[in-house]
Amino acid sequence: MTYLVVNGPNLNALGHRDPTIYGSLTLQQIEGKIAEQARKLKVDVAFFQSNSEGAIIDHLQQQGPSSQGVIINPGALTHYSLALRDALADLAVPVVEVHLSNIYAREPFRRRSVIAGVVRGQVSGLGWYGYVAALEYLVEERRQGGK
Ligand code: DQA
Repeated sequence: MTYLVVNGPNLNALGHRDPTIYGSLTLQQIEGKIAEQARKLKVDVAFFQSNSEGAIIDHLQQQGPSSQGVIINPGALTHYSLALRDALADLAVPVVEVHLSNIYAREPFRRRSVIAGVVRGQVSGLGWYGYVAALEYLVEERRQGGK
């Protein structure tokens, strides 16, 4: 019963990367909050971060099919990676897209997600809590036996 939590390019720099936009927590601290919620929900989470598009796709191909669902913040890949979109579209398990910031309230180039059309849903602008909300949703969806 493992949910994958995947973070893309530059999210390893959270904590010092523009904290007014992304908050002051490090990725490790955010993962700690997700793990805490996972314990309460009695599910397992597996974390992965890479700055490389190919490594993220390899991870999704290898670990995605046997997981219960995927929570992904693709960073800037959100806005242009059709390869990531294809990898996500190929997964049978539900995927939730998460953004710390509200991408619709930012620069025009961030207002478009090329992966939004192949995921279950998107959480954007709720900071670190977005990951926790996504996990709660996926666990609830599974407990109710589907969407
Ligand atoms: C982000 C938004 C993206 O536009 C940006 O490139 C990121 C982080 C977010 O979490 O708000 O790296 O996905």
